[in-house]
Amino acid sequence: MATRREFVKSGCLVCLGGVAGIGTLLEACSPKMLPILQLAAQNVPVLKVSADKFIVEKTNLLIVRSADLEHEILLVKKNEGGYQALYLQCTHEGLSLTPTSSQIYCTAHGSAFDFEGNVLIEPALKPLKKFKTELVNEEIVIHLI
Ligand code: FES
Repeated sequence: MATRREFVKSGCLVCLGGVAGIGTLLEACSPKMLPILQLAAQNVPVLKVSADKFIVEKTNLLIVRSADLEHEILLVKKNEGGYQALYLQCTHEGLSLTPTSSQIYCTAHGSAFDFEGNVLIEPALKPLKKFKTELVNEEIVIHLI
């Protein structure tokens, strides 16, 4: 029979092993962070993003944060040309979404969306809101209304 000291000591070793295992698991599962572009409040119905941000950041996905908006926008550079601006507000209950390099997730109830804004996993039923975009003088103009 184990003494109290031996029992506590072995329990701590199990806990340490468990914590280390969880840390490794979380690290393995954590999505690659996407670059974020922070814009100051502009109080205008458009946001402008320099097109070379995609080259500088070596990405096709850029998170745009604006003080004018409650939620972020995921700006997607399409392979076939053009850009997609998706509002990162879940269509289930309106919470903020988390974009990764593969999908857009809602941590509240598990909905997921693709980079066209289509629902991949419910409970959300409606696609994400899209903003019209256009390229003007090497700037991507996102029309908010
Ligand atoms: S608010 Fe996003 S799945 Fe419920």
